[in-house]
Amino acid sequence: MMDRKEMNIVGLIGTGMVGTTFAYALMQHGLANELVLIDADTRRAEGEMMDLNHGLPFVRPMRIIAGDYADLADADVVVICAGIGQRPGQTRLELLKTNAGIFQEIVPKILAVNQDAILLIASNPVDILTQISAEIAGMDCCRVIGSGTTLDTARFRYMLGQHYGVDSRSVHAFIVGEHGDSELALWSLANIAGIRLPDFVGANGQGYDQAALDRIFDQTRNAAYEIIQRKRATYYAIGLGLLSIVEAVMRDQHTVMTVSSPLTGQYGVKDISISMPTIVGRRGIEEVLNLPLSASELEAFRRSAQTLKDRLAEIR
Ligand SMILES: NC(=O)c1ccc[n+]([C@@H]2O[C@H](COP(=O)([O-])OP(=O)(O)OC[C@H]3O[C@@H](n4cnc5c(N)ncnc54)[C@H](O)[C@@H]3O)[C@@H](O)[C@H]2O)c1
Repeated sequence: MMDRKEMNIVGLIGTGMVGTTFAYALMQHGLANELVLIDADTRRAEGEMMDLNHGLPFVRPMRIIAGDYADLADADVVVICAGIGQRPGQTRLELLKTNAGIFQEIVPKILAVNQDAILLIASNPVDILTQISAEIAGMDCCRVIGSGTTLDTARFRYMLGQHYGVDSRSVHAFIVGEHGDSELALWSLANIAGIRLPDFVGANGQGYDQAALDRIFDQTRNAAYEIIQRKRATYYAIGLGLLSIVEAVMRDQHTVMTVSSPLTGQYGVKDISISMPTIVGRRGIEEVLNLPLSASELEAFRRSAQTLKDRLAEIR
């Protein structure tokens, strides 16, 4: 039997909609030998384990267990999707305080059994919780990753692809900053197959139209609200986004992704986690790219970072 240290082990804390959608994607991908499910609601984690395990005859073999923190000792990556969503009448600050409290409990429990795992945070507000986790872990960088604007960038690329009638994988465009209202699009660097948007004409005849591009950005930023109004939560796209980050880590891919990490002076920002295109590999955050932003993009990015810092200060 394989030594546990040689196995690819993924831990998942929080087996709600986002966590289990990620788990479902992971089991179909053959990336991990073992998946450990942990939730404060242990019966929920057990039920999800049973349901997922019953699908194993249709995919590649792996082990899925409902476990405890001790089972994370040899995990390579621990994905955290635990937390509460906003309840009616609850303020944003109360939500932040509650989820920050949950992370103060979870992160030390992981570190007590495993000091080497990459921690991937998805719970909201993701940038603040990434910063809190990195501070608890005592690491400025590298091993704590927030999903950040990975999802927003995917939504943006999809919508631009639809607009121009091209495969969204040929669209290279980033949403950066806060995963939330103060995020911004890096229009100055956006391109399709290397062609800047002002010069690109799609096979559908679609050329440059700034008003349409502005609408696409608004739809990207408001997508979560629109989906939550219709189906209460979003989970498929973020589940696949988390899978792609875990894959970049486990396969040491050095993939450029708009993940959130604690900045240490890049773009004049420090002491807060926020998203910029970043190289992700087996060590976690390998490098936050130093991009030639326009003056207005740089200013908007710094404003977004300040918004996050102010919010973090509210709970300190
Ligand atoms: N980063 C993104 O792009 C993105 C996208 C969608 C949702 N989210 C966020 O992901 C989080 C989860 O969303 P969801 O829809 O899965 O919520 P959910 O309510 O379905 O699941 C949350 C789970 O966390 C568990 N939990 C609560 N406290 C815990 C603790 N102390 N230890 C272990 N488990 C605990 C709950 O029992 C529950 O099963 C939310 O914060 C949501 O805002 C992030």
